[in-house]
Amino acid sequence: MLRPIWREFNSKHAGVRVATGVEKKKSRVLSGMRPTGRLHIGHYFGALQNWVRLQNDPAYECFYFIADWHALTSDYADTSGVAENTLQIMIDYLAEGLDPSKSVLFLQSAVPEHAELHLLLSMVTPLGWLERVPTYKEALENVKDKDLHNYGFLGYPVLQCADIVIYSKEGVPLVVPVGEDQVSHVETSREIVRKCNFHFGGVEVSPAIMNEENYDYLAHVEAVFAYEGEVHNVLPLSGLENTKVPSLLEEVAIRISRRIGYENLLEKIGRARSFFSPRTILCEPEVMLTRTPRIPGLDGRKMSKSYGNTITLSESDEDIRAKTKVMVTDPARKRRSDPGNPDVCPVYDWHKLFSPKPTLEWAATGCRTAGIGCIECKAKMADHLIEWIAPIREQRVDHEKHPGKVLEILDEGSKKARRVAQETMGRVREAVFGWERKRKEIDGTAGSAKA
Ligand code: TRP
Ligand code: SF4
Repeated sequence: MLRPIWREFNSKHAGVRVATGVEKKKSRVLSGMRPTGRLHIGHYFGALQNWVRLQNDPAYECFYFIADWHALTSDYADTSGVAENTLQIMIDYLAEGLDPSKSVLFLQSAVPEHAELHLLLSMVTPLGWLERVPTYKEALENVKDKDLHNYGFLGYPVLQCADIVIYSKEGVPLVVPVGEDQVSHVETSREIVRKCNFHFGGVEVSPAIMNEENYDYLAHVEAVFAYEGEVHNVLPLSGLENTKVPSLLEEVAIRISRRIGYENLLEKIGRARSFFSPRTILCEPEVMLTRTPRIPGLDGRKMSKSYGNTITLSESDEDIRAKTKVMVTDPARKRRSDPGNPDVCPVYDWHKLFSPKPTLEWAATGCRTAGIGCIECKAKMADHLIEWIAPIREQRVDHEKHPGKVLEILDEGSKKARRVAQETMGRVREAVFGWERKRKEIDGTAGSAKA
């Protein structure tokens, strides 16, 4: 009975190719840092270096920001440093080569749409998802000098999700370059987006289900829907214009999903599920893992401000020398006459980042044969580190002299980011509340009443 209508549908749509444009569009890149202190060389090798590379690759459109709201999740008791830290990080960004003419550099709190989206996402996010985030559990156990028992800290990943997906663009991959410690946050973001898309966007049914060769699938879906008590809503399918069928199926699928759950519905639909997908309001972000090896701190542990084992990007020569002088080395090399193993020495890890090849060889061989002492090895490494950092520091000094200019760049970037974020929020708001539709409806009835 359905067949003749299909033919008509198929011939009308024959040869129509939907241009996705994915091939030509740039992937979007988004990442940020919290303004809890100055950036250090670990930030450079773990993130910024990669950000600069992406910015200079024409395949990407980059958004980099300073997450000042996120700084509050743990530091609400003292906010006095947030503004100055933000300025300093912006200076670090610029000194490291992030370029406002290539990337959108912005401040989170200057784009209030992040907060609005965070609020809506928080409605669909189960507490359990947040409680099982590894960084959350770890921090609760380990961080003792700060109060983390609050709503904002638990909701950290929801805000992070909003930060990312507010830069969604349909058909364009959304990539988040981060280190390993952030992977679980991006994973949680994906789950939140899926749930949000389903609840606010509903289900989309591909018109391909109307193609003749898919008759069995359609019949099966029809049977499942009928079994779910939707006989009246579905069975007149055959009498309908074919273009209307997918949207009718969508309506019914949503109704059934609300009752039995979307996943359960898909299970019942079986292989016909490939015609059903949640409508995309927001894009699921992807992690781009930064591949650079982790640079150890001065004491051999992970480099982190809270361990006091960093070299900041604004560190003076004297401080660099003083700090590297007492750096941890191969613990087995106790005396100058003991041969050492550079492969387990943090100093050698740093040599690899800053020293030219001959110095590397000099250090490795000298270490293994006890030909050199750790003191001279460290001093040489410090020389090269200073050489590397000097031009960055110079750039910093330039920007520090003109903080007004730096803020202007941040304000301009925030305006650009905001335009994009507002567009997304417009779509999300409409999906949630449907006010545009409602207004049109009201205008329509008002018009007909007049006539
Ligand atoms: N959580 C990140 C960090 O601690 C900072 C951050 C906030 C972020 N929002 C983000 C990183 C969005 C990437 C994308 O470093
Ligand atoms: Fe490390 Fe250099 Fe000492 Fe070897 S000589 S243990 S590489 S500091």
